[in-house]
Amino acid sequence: MTTSNPSQHALVIVGGSMAAVKAPSTLRRLREAGFETDVIAGRAALEFITPLSLSTAAGRQVATDETWFEARPDAQHLTLARTDVTVIVAASADLLARAAHGLASDLASATLLSVRGQVLWVPAMNEQMWTHPAVQANVTTLKSWGHSFLGPAQGAFGTLGEGTGTGRMAEPEEIAAAALALVSHPPDLQGLKLVVSAGPTREYLDPVRFISNPSSGKMGYAVAMEAQARGAAVTLISGPVNLPDPPGVTVVKVESAVQMHDAVLAAAADAQIVVMTAAVADYRAAEQKTEKEAKTAGEVSIQLVPNPDILAALGQHKSKRVLIGFAMETHAGVERAALKARRKNADFILLNYPTQQGTAFGGDDNQVTLVRPDGTAEAWPRLSKREVAARLLDEALKVRQSAR
Ligand code: C5P
Repeated sequence: MTTSNPSQHALVIVGGSMAAVKAPSTLRRLREAGFETDVIAGRAALEFITPLSLSTAAGRQVATDETWFEARPDAQHLTLARTDVTVIVAASADLLARAAHGLASDLASATLLSVRGQVLWVPAMNEQMWTHPAVQANVTTLKSWGHSFLGPAQGAFGTLGEGTGTGRMAEPEEIAAAALALVSHPPDLQGLKLVVSAGPTREYLDPVRFISNPSSGKMGYAVAMEAQARGAAVTLISGPVNLPDPPGVTVVKVESAVQMHDAVLAAAADAQIVVMTAAVADYRAAEQKTEKEAKTAGEVSIQLVPNPDILAALGQHKSKRVLIGFAMETHAGVERAALKARRKNADFILLNYPTQQGTAFGGDDNQVTLVRPDGTAEAWPRLSKREVAARLLDEALKVRQSAR
């Protein structure tokens, strides 16, 4: 395994699940990877694992609710929160819920409210609990704040007789590798400005009705967060979505394609990389009524006119700027995406198929194929949207270097 930069720090929070027994070896693997470590054991964790085994593995005294109370004036949760990566192992449904709802009733949750660095959740719970809508809603909330998740995996977790299924916690080696990957972002986008568009547009017919699509904006927000983490100055032009503004990113909210066109072109003037993930509506109503149209008994027709193509407009004055598009196709994907890349003068297009399971609008994962204007293509495995964003930015940098 490669090792972390000198003096990188990992905070391990141990939750109350049987998998807490893997916490000492997780701490050891993290130290082998070059991290200095601290460890917090929640009250429930101490039912499964002794403070001594955690302290020994961490090379530091374990922090517990008792040490927090004893050290009260020193605000131990704030000191511990100053870390590069927080890894929550044996993360229970209870700890996920407390973090997602901002509770601070014990050391683990108070620290989670204060952390600034990367956060990696490693859940361990049985399948019924993990798939419950309450747990999944909490996971969605935490992901929207940029938190990462590892597992749970398929496999046996039968210590309490639950059998097999989703719920087995990841192994210590995988956890250390994932923590290392999270903090190993090279600041390779420092000094660059990146503009990313996200979400759908709304094309109003009258004050209350519009044409739109189900784009969630998650892919574009992931690109914005990843680029920001790698040092870029990021402007995110967002259509209407249900996601919080990513910290450290300049967010411009728009509704229509015409507004998005104006905002993207203005922001792109001094940008080196532009990523168009937005699902821009191709048409708008020829006439937008100022008053709500009354319902009539007969058929109605709406005349539509084409919207400006933002990516194509940028492609007309491309110079050295890297331009990246997304395309959703139901058939002949690679040929059609390559044609689009040529027509719009994009450096590459990430193609996905709405028909593929798990890659439709709104999911957390994406399976894309990189398509270049010359028709060459590279199919990527199914990845989280954040991982797709990371690879996309690696490719954007390669394009920039080859253009020099
Ligand atoms: O032509 P199509 O909509 O499939 O092309 C997809 C790519 O072009 C996406 O990157 C999308 O954001 C961009 N696009 C655009 N302006 C439009 C339509 C699409 O920038 N009016």
